[in-house]
Amino acid sequence: MTSSPTPSPSEHVRVTTAAGIARIVMDRPAKKNALDGAMYRGLADGLTAAAADPAVRAILLTGTPDVFCAGNDLADFAKVRAGAGGLSAMDFLHALVACPKPIVAAVAGWAVGIGTTMLLHCDFVYAAPSARFRTPFVDLGLCPEAASSVLLPATVGPRIAAEMLLLGAEVDAVRARDAGLVTAIADDPVARAEATCAELARRAPGAVRATRALVRRPGQAAIADALAAEQAAFLDRLRSDEAAEAAMALMARRPPDFSRFS
Ligand code: COA
Repeated sequence: MTSSPTPSPSEHVRVTTAAGIARIVMDRPAKKNALDGAMYRGLADGLTAAAADPAVRAILLTGTPDVFCAGNDLADFAKVRAGAGGLSAMDFLHALVACPKPIVAAVAGWAVGIGTTMLLHCDFVYAAPSARFRTPFVDLGLCPEAASSVLLPATVGPRIAAEMLLLGAEVDAVRARDAGLVTAIADDPVARAEATCAELARRAPGAVRATRALVRRPGQAAIADALAAEQAAFLDRLRSDEAAEAAMALMARRPPDFSRFS
């Protein structure tokens, strides 16, 4: 099967299209596929190109064999804290929310922060038994993003969402599947995702898009509202003394001490 690569602003995001399927791969294993600004642009461009390409019927989103994504690059958070630039995730998130075609994710190993919250926008999520999900925003002095303040409780229920969002609880593949965060566990999640993409690609594309749009329609305003509110709160949190303490503790490899904050 021939596959055509799409130019990407990041060497760590690979985008190829073959047989009606656009495959977007986060590929920075030395940093556990943590996302920096160029990678976010690569993901946004990949999604936008797939949405515009009439040959694409489904999008497969994955990481590398041992890790899906360790979330936002923590060094980039430090740059925002220092006043250099805004949140580079936003264009990617808007492209993700606006994408009119089905997205099928394959997860192995860690999915942390936005590595987990991006999955809330996917139609199918296949997880290897090694998959681990965490949203440690509060541990970092931060708050939810990617509309996860709305979508996580809606997907896994308010109880598990509270464990994840407030306590940064780690959720394994079985619990994630039982909670509804994951469609199914598969020893080879990429092969399982490819099979679902191929099934989608055989179906009437207009009917798939119309069905997806109708299913998502009732939540669209809430998602847009959450994205905007979270963006403001997240920036505020990033610049907070609590986030500075969390970052310093991480660097010093010590537990954070939030006892002086009120
Ligand atoms: N940003 C930048 N670098 C990251 C990163 C991130 N989010 N996550 C991992 N890395 C880097 C590490 O600094 C390390 O780099 P080094 O080898 O140059 O020191 C490398 O990736 C390997 O990470 P390591 O922690 O040794 O791997 P691990 O298998 O022991 O643990 C994780 C994997 C994902 C559990 C752990 O790296 C982690 O918790 N990362 C931070 C996740 C996070 O807080 N993300 C932001 C959420 S908002």
